[in-house]
Amino acid sequence: MAVLALDSLGTARAATPRVAAPDAIPLTRVDAGARGTVRFENVSKTFRSASGEVFALDDVSLDVSSGAIFGIIGRSGAGKSTLLRTVNRLEQPTSGRVLVDGEPIAALGIDGLVDLRRRIGMIFQHFNLLSAKTVRQNVALPLTVAGVGKAEIARRVEEVLRLVSLAGKAETYPSRLSGGQKQRIGIARALVSDPEILLCDEATSALDPETTLSILSLLRDINWRLGLTIILITHEMSVIREICTDVVVLEAGRIAESGPVWRVFGMPEHPATRALLAPLTRDLPEDLAGRLTPYPTPGRKAVLRITYSGRTPPDLSALVAAAGGPVQLLQAGIERIQGHAIGHLLIAAGPEAEARLRAIGETVAGIGYVAADD
Ligand SMILES: Nc1ncnc2c1ncn2[C@@H]1O[C@H](COP(=O)(O)OP(=O)(O)OP(=O)(O)O)[C@@H](O)[C@H]1O
Ligand SMILES: [Mg+2]
Repeated sequence: MAVLALDSLGTARAATPRVAAPDAIPLTRVDAGARGTVRFENVSKTFRSASGEVFALDDVSLDVSSGAIFGIIGRSGAGKSTLLRTVNRLEQPTSGRVLVDGEPIAALGIDGLVDLRRRIGMIFQHFNLLSAKTVRQNVALPLTVAGVGKAEIARRVEEVLRLVSLAGKAETYPSRLSGGQKQRIGIARALVSDPEILLCDEATSALDPETTLSILSLLRDINWRLGLTIILITHEMSVIREICTDVVVLEAGRIAESGPVWRVFGMPEHPATRALLAPLTRDLPEDLAGRLTPYPTPGRKAVLRITYSGRTPPDLSALVAAAGGPVQLLQAGIERIQGHAIGHLLIAAGPEAEARLRAIGETVAGIGYVAADD
């Protein structure tokens, strides 16, 4: 096993050869390809308080691969923050274990823990910036605490401020920044120690939609350029759809389902996932809903919803051929997630075409009927 390479930042730790403290487990990697991986093995967490026990996590097993943008979703209280916080040992599992880069983190001594937290950056919903310190001082903080030399701090701070496009704001105080700029500073501070994993707990929840998009594109850029693994919690399903590669749905501390985003979003199996995705589902247009009748009467056309779950691309000529007659497109909502087409078409079809299309199977659902001249 190769000894974990120290970062190239010239930190105090890097300046002197690293010797493991007697109580510390030497930092080793299982293999170089494991940089930025996290494994949860049967992780459970019980909080005990005066009002009783809370089972925040219940037997969670999960792998986060190197370079993934991994989303954690679930209702409020599902255990998302608790799970995220086990990665840098802000929470200790009651049972089970968490491995970072193949290494069980529960066994780390003080030195090992300090090094682990240097390798794992974290950003928060409310930015957690120190208002009495300038942007430069805020960003420099992790390096200052680690005793890194002034010149190296200056170089590194400049580099990360450029990365988040705020090089000109170094001497500004946080109160003079917009929410989006504050979060960029939060990201810069998280990146200044050159981490391999970035944890984001509701990092865009306090931001307006446009600023959210710019922060998301920054996170994606960082993921791509620095090869950083990102684990993020959000209540905004559009954020998951926009940037995540994988997602886990937590429900009452347990995994409801997990997998690549296109599959979980395209074919949600668990009721909790369906409930979370409801805001993304396009409602029936109001005018159409008002004209729908539940029964086919002579001269009525069927309104069919054809669902695409990413397995096959929407092929309009195949649809028309299958219908064997005219069909009208009433509404279309197809998204592309990770190269997979996901969404639905609403079409109107006469009786013969309806029968043929329904024969296709469960991807075709009848939702009512409209008059032929609609
Ligand atoms: N320190 C604590 N002491 C007692 N109970 C706790 C503690 N931290 C979390 N819990 C409980 O554990 C459960 C999971 O909490 P957690 O914060 O992980 O949920 P969450 O999914 O992040 O929710 P939200 O979306 O509201 O942030 C909740 O029932 C919560 O009340
Ligand atoms: Mg939370």
